[in-house]
Amino acid sequence: MKSYKKDFPIFTNHPELAYLDSAATSQKPQQVLDAIMDYYKNYNANAKRGIYPIAEKTTLKVEEVREKIKNFINAKYSEEIIFTHGTTEGVNTIMNTFGDGYVTDEDDVVTTIMEHHSNFVPWQFLAGSRFAHFYAIDITDEGYINEKELLEGIKYAKILAITYVSNMLGTINNLKEIIAKVKKKNPTIKVFVDAAQAAPHIKIDVQDIDCDFLAFSGHKMLASTGIGILYGKKELLKTTAPFLFGGEMIKKVSVIETTFADLPHRFEAGTLDIAGIVSLGAAIDYIYSIGFEKIREHERELIAYCLAQMEKISAIKIYGPKKIKDRCSVISFTIDNIHAHDVAQILGDNNICVRAGHHCTMPLHERLGIAASTRVSFQIYNDEKDVDTFIEGLKKVKKIFKK
Ligand SMILES: Cc1ncc(COP(=O)(O)O)c(C=O)c1O
Repeated sequence: MKSYKKDFPIFTNHPELAYLDSAATSQKPQQVLDAIMDYYKNYNANAKRGIYPIAEKTTLKVEEVREKIKNFINAKYSEEIIFTHGTTEGVNTIMNTFGDGYVTDEDDVVTTIMEHHSNFVPWQFLAGSRFAHFYAIDITDEGYINEKELLEGIKYAKILAITYVSNMLGTINNLKEIIAKVKKKNPTIKVFVDAAQAAPHIKIDVQDIDCDFLAFSGHKMLASTGIGILYGKKELLKTTAPFLFGGEMIKKVSVIETTFADLPHRFEAGTLDIAGIVSLGAAIDYIYSIGFEKIREHERELIAYCLAQMEKISAIKIYGPKKIKDRCSVISFTIDNIHAHDVAQILGDNNICVRAGHHCTMPLHERLGIAASTRVSFQIYNDEKDVDTFIEGLKKVKKIFKK
């Protein structure tokens, strides 16, 4: 298995780290760090404002990255790409704008039980404030969306909010098929896709899956924190009022009235996270330099290897699909009678970085009948040695607890 660790300075500085928490946030390759430094050292200026050379360079860079992201997710128009601060802001933007105008007290708002709170709580709040019905579609015992229930549940729904990849189960939802079936049954439904855990690992094609909105975060895909992307179909966004009001999102302001800028700037009030945008452009270049096919193959090998080792250890329960091809990047598990936090603490003491708790999926944990789980998650920089270290750590945990 090829090692990509040398591209990530944190592993040169801390070779002892087995970093298995990339679903929370990823490490950054040197070329992303270089791009951020280059921006601050050589052309730091605000975007869309100044007309001197470095300001023009910054503005051009921002638009160049927008174009890159358009291609990255195969959007039709670059105006459909809005810079946000992360997935959470993307969901809240659409909930507060399009959603607020689209949902009435006669409608349903539907999500799934496997959603991250970011793609659950905003829709629950919207439904509550519009006196609409709110449903969360169940999963099957194998960890997939219950499609039968979904197709019955979306009959009167105006919005379906669904994740591409579950951050707890690791399930890759077959969105192309699911959205086609949903829209056949209910042609007016609008589908919001949470792609936070998909964007780092899977080639996204918004036209192919035919979603209406989609959001993801840069920090989970090798870029810096504070930058995110919201995609929305142009025909929907162009008639949607903005959410944040302020500088650079207007056409004309007078005491009598204000008119708003065209897409996408109407949804980008205030100064953008320019360093974040630059970092996202560099992260995409890095991802392309490896290629999604190789990324998926590398991660599939790691998941298969890790699952095989874990299955040899008694008293461990692993959640999510059994089929490796349906899994992406994360493995959540519990160990009989040992709390997830104790597992993570002991692993952490041995420089094995994992996450413990409900991973912002409390309804899913409740559905699974557990309060917490421990999660390992992979990125391109992980290798078999990280898995071996993790497995040794698990054996240590069991020894300490005499299990
Ligand atoms: C599936 C999923 N959706 C949304 C989010 C929220 O992302 P952010 O905190 O970057 O807004 C996360 C973060 O863990 C996630 O895993």
